[in-house]
Amino acid sequence: MDLYGRDFLRILDFSEEELRYMLAMSKKFKEMKKAGQNHKYFPNKNIAILFEKTSTRTRCSFEVAAYDLGMGVTYLDPTGSQMGHKESIADTARVLSRLYQGIEYRGFGQDIVETLAENSSVPVWNGLTDECHPTQALADFMTMEEHFGHLKGLTLAFVGDARNNVANSLMAMSAKMGANFIACGPEELKPGEELVNECRAIAEENGATITITSDIHALDGKADVIYTDIWLSMGEDKEKWGERISQLQPYQVNMEMMNRAKPESIFLHCLPSFHDLNTAVGRDVNEKFGLMEMEVTNEVFESERSLVFDEAENRMHTIKAVMFLTLFNKEERNA
Ligand code: CP
Ligand code: NVA
Repeated sequence: MDLYGRDFLRILDFSEEELRYMLAMSKKFKEMKKAGQNHKYFPNKNIAILFEKTSTRTRCSFEVAAYDLGMGVTYLDPTGSQMGHKESIADTARVLSRLYQGIEYRGFGQDIVETLAENSSVPVWNGLTDECHPTQALADFMTMEEHFGHLKGLTLAFVGDARNNVANSLMAMSAKMGANFIACGPEELKPGEELVNECRAIAEENGATITITSDIHALDGKADVIYTDIWLSMGEDKEKWGERISQLQPYQVNMEMMNRAKPESIFLHCLPSFHDLNTAVGRDVNEKFGLMEMEVTNEVFESERSLVFDEAENRMHTIKAVMFLTLFNKEERNA
């Protein structure tokens, strides 16, 4: 299998085998890192990471993964580059691909990362768009496989804003891996029909199901994993907080919700999370709407069933695998 030169824009762009290969390589890199084995293979490559939205995990994962592989990194944010305001995405891509061997982009529309990829002669990796968060889904499935020992036949329930970027990529990844997927959220926040149909066709081929529901009882005795994400994503209108809270409060992941799932079920969250009042946004929402915790209660977040920090660590191992497989040709990889 050779992923050399490929972009990483959506989970749906890859076959089950290719995604499994990425997971296997992530595991290998994690073992090497834990064993303190040097893998600075590529001192002659550099990457650019472009962020039009803020980030902790994704930025740090790309940087650490690049350093671990021996590469140089340039971080650009909207105030530090011409992209968008003085220079088009297409021109930016053409300039950066003369200087760098790979480009990461986090920002708004999926069309932007696609334009970047079309105009770039080096691999482009999607670090989150309004529609997709594919590197997140890889890390989540790595965490699930570590915990359960397999992926096929597991049931992942995404509860909350079930049409957001993270939910979309998890639905695609579930379909590809043969895991059942339940999107559980209010009618108004259901995933798009076109994407559901595409994922459903893939899931069926892999012996899995996709369920779209607003009924939390759909989780009863079924879910191996309960997953949620913040109720208002980056780039969305802050005025929407009130509406989102009233739509999503019935879908808060609390112990009662966890206990609907299988007794051995785990909790995952891409993070950042509003599970207490230790954030400025959390305190602001508390002041306006009186909530102490939002999409997940502190009790669940801090419980033994919560694997959110393993999941956060796995962002780095999976991103390293994606870069390694797309940036280096067979000879380089075997060297
Ligand atoms: N989960 C995730 O993408 O986190 P960051 O926004 O911190 O990168
Ligand atoms: N849905 C969230 C994910 C953050 C990692 C957002 O887009 O803000």
